[in-house]
Amino acid sequence: MSAISVRNVWAEFGDQIVIEDLNLEIASGSFVSVVGPSGCGKSTFLRMVLGQDRPSRGKLLLDGEPLPDEPGSDRGVVFQRYSVFPHLTVLGNVLLAYELGQSRFLGRLFGAARKKAIERSEELVAAVGLGPHRDKHPSALSGGMQQRLAIAQALAKDPKVLLLDEPFGALDPGTRAQMHALLKPLWERLGMTVIMVTHDLKEAFNLGTRVVAFDKVRHDPQAPGRFGARVTYDLDLTRHGPVPVLGFPRKHPVQATAP
Ligand SMILES: Nc1ncnc2c1ncn2[C@@H]1O[C@H](COP(=O)(O)OP(=O)(O)OP(=O)(O)O)[C@@H](O)[C@H]1O
Ligand SMILES: [Mg+2]
Repeated sequence: MSAISVRNVWAEFGDQIVIEDLNLEIASGSFVSVVGPSGCGKSTFLRMVLGQDRPSRGKLLLDGEPLPDEPGSDRGVVFQRYSVFPHLTVLGNVLLAYELGQSRFLGRLFGAARKKAIERSEELVAAVGLGPHRDKHPSALSGGMQQRLAIAQALAKDPKVLLLDEPFGALDPGTRAQMHALLKPLWERLGMTVIMVTHDLKEAFNLGTRVVAFDKVRHDPQAPGRFGARVTYDLDLTRHGPVPVLGFPRKHPVQATAP
């Protein structure tokens, strides 16, 4: 579990302002969905939380401490199209991620530590429903299976924070629904803080405990890079109760009737 504080953060590339004075307090264990138009800086924001990019101004804190300068095993990441290692099997991909998380400098584990690593990797492969495919190579997997492998890889490092950048964007609606059914219980069980960027509002509301929208508040038609995105909506779904995506919430729960 981990809390993230975003304090007066700016992202600027040359004279283009992408993110402008962003402030967010993300509670430990929450699931934050980030939405917003293309190019408004959602991936840039995730890269800053990951430690891949640095804010040009302001600071990011993880549990009250400044974020380490580089990506660490405390933060896992899944992109829309994840490059799993093609020459390794499903189990091999998860095992490598686990080994890199445990033993960053050695990269390999031996003896009892390796046995434990294999057991843990097998558990993760099973948790994402790839048990029967553990010895296959990624080229023999469907898109949805590759994304499940990417999630298992990210979880292998036992991250406190899981960052998802349109992780299901390339999947068909049925596979997407399966991925939601997989991710939600994993998040609940592992107690991670999740930040997920998505273009799918229904997905944002179904999975998130909070939905944050980024957008530009000010525009200068003569200089498009002059103003950056800020938080334009911030909805705490735990406070407002369940949000109906279709129809209205039931006033009275349906009673189960005895046969
Ligand atoms: N390293 C970089 N150097 C220069 N400009 C960059 C860099 N990274 C991002 N940008 C610019 O920042 C802006 C925001 O990009 P970003 O990828 O964060 O948008 P996004 O909200 O994730 O969009 P999408 O929904 O299309 O994925 C873009 O105009 C992009 O060109
Ligand atoms: Mg993006």
